[in-house]
Amino acid sequence: MKLPPFFEYRAVPGQNQSQQELHIEEVTALRLAESFSTPLYVYSRAALIDNFHAYAEAAQLRGGPNAALICYAVKANSNLAILNQFARLGAGFDIVSGGELQRVLAAGGQASKTIFSGVGKSREEMRFALEQNILCFNVESISELHRLNEVAGAMGKRAAVSLRVNPDVDPKTHPYISTGLKENKFGVAFEDALQAYREAVRLPHLRVTGIDCHIGSQLLDDSPLLEALDKLISLIDTLSREGITLEHLDLGGGIGIAYGDEESGVTPVAVGSYLARVFARIGAWRAAQYGGTPIKLLFEPGRSLVGNAGALLTRVEYLKPGASKNFAIVDAAMNDLMRPAMYEAWHGIAPAVLSEVVPKHWDIVGPVCESGDWLARDRSLAVSEGDVLALLSAGAYGMTMSSNYNTRPRAAEVMVDGDAMHLIRSRETVEHLLSGEQLLPD
Ligand code: LLP
Repeated sequence: MKLPPFFEYRAVPGQNQSQQELHIEEVTALRLAESFSTPLYVYSRAALIDNFHAYAEAAQLRGGPNAALICYAVKANSNLAILNQFARLGAGFDIVSGGELQRVLAAGGQASKTIFSGVGKSREEMRFALEQNILCFNVESISELHRLNEVAGAMGKRAAVSLRVNPDVDPKTHPYISTGLKENKFGVAFEDALQAYREAVRLPHLRVTGIDCHIGSQLLDDSPLLEALDKLISLIDTLSREGITLEHLDLGGGIGIAYGDEESGVTPVAVGSYLARVFARIGAWRAAQYGGTPIKLLFEPGRSLVGNAGALLTRVEYLKPGASKNFAIVDAAMNDLMRPAMYEAWHGIAPAVLSEVVPKHWDIVGPVCESGDWLARDRSLAVSEGDVLALLSAGAYGMTMSSNYNTRPRAAEVMVDGDAMHLIRSRETVEHLLSGEQLLPD
């Protein structure tokens, strides 16, 4: 199996040279597990930086300075240290709740580079975002336009809006993470978009500044994204003939990563070629827009910035070989990493130490009382009780989708930076979990 960048097997200097140990940058998985216990999310800082640079450099190369703003989709991994790292690199943010905005601000991110997506924004969330002067609301329905107009009016403000248009293209990904088809709940239907823009410009407390779409996640082919782009371009041309001019075009997120045996390190290469194709597609058109003021491009990547930068470390509690299946019961479960149970997602498994034991086929399962509590199935692995395993490519939608099911405190998170280990979230305790609950009176 090919490992993601910054994950590699090496001998530990000064130890048995034939023993290969999994390293995350300069630190072994074993040392991380021993220092912070398991289950443990670990991330490579260098991988985060490299992934962001892949976007920023491609945008600069193809579009020139300030051609694009990369708005990291906070939902993929919202740890403050990670948001702070991206803020330092100049990122904007794509949020879907007031809570995510609070995280961005707490991490030193700028509201003026933050866009607010999502189909169900509450009045309180709108007010909070308006107080903070965010860059733009990605509005998903006519009703939302009216609510936003009313909330902004009551505050004596004008809200910047972009309409999320549903371009009805098939992203060819898992149905649960496909969002750009007619039958999905997201965005304004393409054929209704012109009417929605006419409505938006009529509302006094709104300022129409953009257009956006997001057609799905884990797209391994960027053609559907370019198809969506073509549709948005034709709509922008129609709008501009009506005198509605836009400042930005937001193509959403969606670029997939390598989870399995496919070519690893797909991220920088795929991102570079995707951005090159986007800029090539809109090059002449963009330059000719609005008397030479080119429209700005926004992207909302989540998974491609953090997915391959993280892993979930877990320890084997019990081996339970059986007649039809062998189970390795580990201390991480579906509450720590939902993706296999929810999407039958495949995550690579790398033992912390490569062992000489003869490999067998194992299902890796957790302690939660559900048959759906599995993390990997039918993997050929050499494992013994007490071993540490890494579930790879778990940096995106891992920790953020975790829960406390079975009263399991959530895992700790550690950032590796060269040979340093930084605890970026401490392990939850059962006391944390019980603290908000009350007994009934007599
Ligand atoms: N923008 C919007 C409006 C989105 O809804 C999403 C993801 C993104 C950006 C970021 O997409 P990305 O670059 O990460 O593909 N939990 C699922 C993925 C759900 C994606 C939801 N929306 C998973 O674990 O695969």
